[in-house]
Amino acid sequence: MLVVEDSPLYSAEFFAAGDPYTYLNDLRENHPVSVHRRADGYEFYALTRYADVYAAYVDHVGLSSSYGTMIDGSYRPEKDSASGRMLIVADEPAHAQIKKPVKHSGFNREMIGRIGETVRRNIRTALGALSVGDRLDFTTVVAPELPKGVLEVLFGIGPQDALGLLEATRTMIGYRDQAYVGESPLDSLVDAQLNVLDFMDDLISARIRSGSSDDMIGFLAQLVAAGEMSRDVALLNGLNVAVGGNETTPHTASLCVATIDDERAQWRRVVDGQVASGVATQEFLRWTSTNSYVQRLSVRDVEIGGQTIPANSFVTLWNMAANRDPRVFDRPDEFIIDRPDNKQIAFGAGVHRCIGAPVATLEIQMFLEELAAWDKAFRVLAPPQRLHSNFMLGLTELQVEVIKAGEDG
Ligand code: HEM
Repeated sequence: MLVVEDSPLYSAEFFAAGDPYTYLNDLRENHPVSVHRRADGYEFYALTRYADVYAAYVDHVGLSSSYGTMIDGSYRPEKDSASGRMLIVADEPAHAQIKKPVKHSGFNREMIGRIGETVRRNIRTALGALSVGDRLDFTTVVAPELPKGVLEVLFGIGPQDALGLLEATRTMIGYRDQAYVGESPLDSLVDAQLNVLDFMDDLISARIRSGSSDDMIGFLAQLVAAGEMSRDVALLNGLNVAVGGNETTPHTASLCVATIDDERAQWRRVVDGQVASGVATQEFLRWTSTNSYVQRLSVRDVEIGGQTIPANSFVTLWNMAANRDPRVFDRPDEFIIDRPDNKQIAFGAGVHRCIGAPVATLEIQMFLEELAAWDKAFRVLAPPQRLHSNFMLGLTELQVEVIKAGEDG
C-alpha cells in the first residue's frame, strides 16, 4: 500500500493553489487505499474510489464519527469535545436520538417550503439591486443570500442577525484563511465560537420565555424546557446546523458562477429551457463537491477496497475523488450540465448523510433559476481566489462584472 510522507492532502495551500483533483485522480486509479503521514506523527488512510467511500459511509459501526470529522479536529485518545452530543460527531444510538427532533423541526416539508420562498426572495432582491456595468465580489455581495434565508427561517431571526451569524461561523471554519481572520487565527476562532454560542443561548432563552416552537431553535428550546433535551445538546446542534448551512452553499454558488463563466454554451441550454434546472443542479453539486472529505476512526479492523484497515486508524472519505470516479461517471473530469442518472455523493451517505441536503439542493436550484431568468449575467473579471482549506472547496473572492444577458458569449 502506498505510504506518503508529508502528504499534500494536509496542505491548505495545496488546495488553494495546487491541483488536488489531479493528485486524487492518480491516487484513485493507482492507489485507491493509501496512507498519508505528517511529520508530527498524524496519519490517515485515504479512500478515493466511489464504492470504497460509499462502503465506509454506511459502516457507521466499524467507523466512528466521534473522534472528529476533520483532520486535526481532535487527537487520540480523546474524543472530539462535542462527541456524542453534536450530530456530526455522534455515533449511534445517540446520533439518531438527536437527528430525529432536528429533522422533524427544521427539515420537514413545511419548513423546506418556507426556506425556499425566503431564499428565492433574497436572491431576487440581491440580483435586482445590480446594474449593468457594476463590478463586485460575488462571494460577499450575492453568495451569503443563500444561507441567510435558511438562518432566517430555522432560527426565526432577522436578516441582520442572520448576516452576523454567518460572519461568525465563517471565521470558525475558514479560520486558516487570512481572508477571514487576518493575522491572529486562534483568537479569531475562539471569539467566533463564543459569539455563536452566546447568540444561540440567548435565542434559546428567548424561546423558552415566549413558549414559541414555530422554528427549529424554538422546537429545541421547548424540549429543553420540558427536560427532554439538555441545553448543551440544543446549543451544539443549533451550531452544527448553522455551520453546516453557512459554510457550504455560498461556496457552491460562487463555484457555480465561475463554472458558468467557463461553460457558457452549456449554461445557455439552461437559460433556453433545454436542460431542467434540477438536472443541472445535480451536476453543479458533483462538480463543486464543496465538502471535500470527511474523517472517521476505525474502532475495529475494517475491510475496504480489498485492504484491511487496522483498528484505531483515522480514515478519510474523499467525496471530491469519488465524484470523479470513472467507474460511476462517464467522462468524469468534464462538466456535463445534463448528465443523466447523476449519482453524485456530495452530501455523503448512510446515517450521517447531510440533513440539509434537500435545503442545499433547493438553494442551488433556486439560485440557478433566478440567474437563468435574470435579464443580466455575470462575467468573471479575474482568476477566482480559492479558500485555504483542504476540507471546504470554496472561493474567498470572485470579482465579476454585470453585463446584459445575451452578451455573455
Ligand atoms: C452544498 C451544500 C452542502 C454540502 C456539500 C454538504 C455536505 C455534507 C456532508 C458530506 C455531510 C456528511 C458528514 C459526515 O458523514 O460526517 C453533511 C452533514 C451535515 N450537514 Fe451538510 N452539506 C451541505 C449543506 C448543508 C446545509 C444547507 C445544512 C443545514 C442547513 C447542512 C447541515 C449538515 C448537518 C447538521 C450535518 C450533520 C448530519 C449528521 O451527522 O447526521 N449541510 N453535509
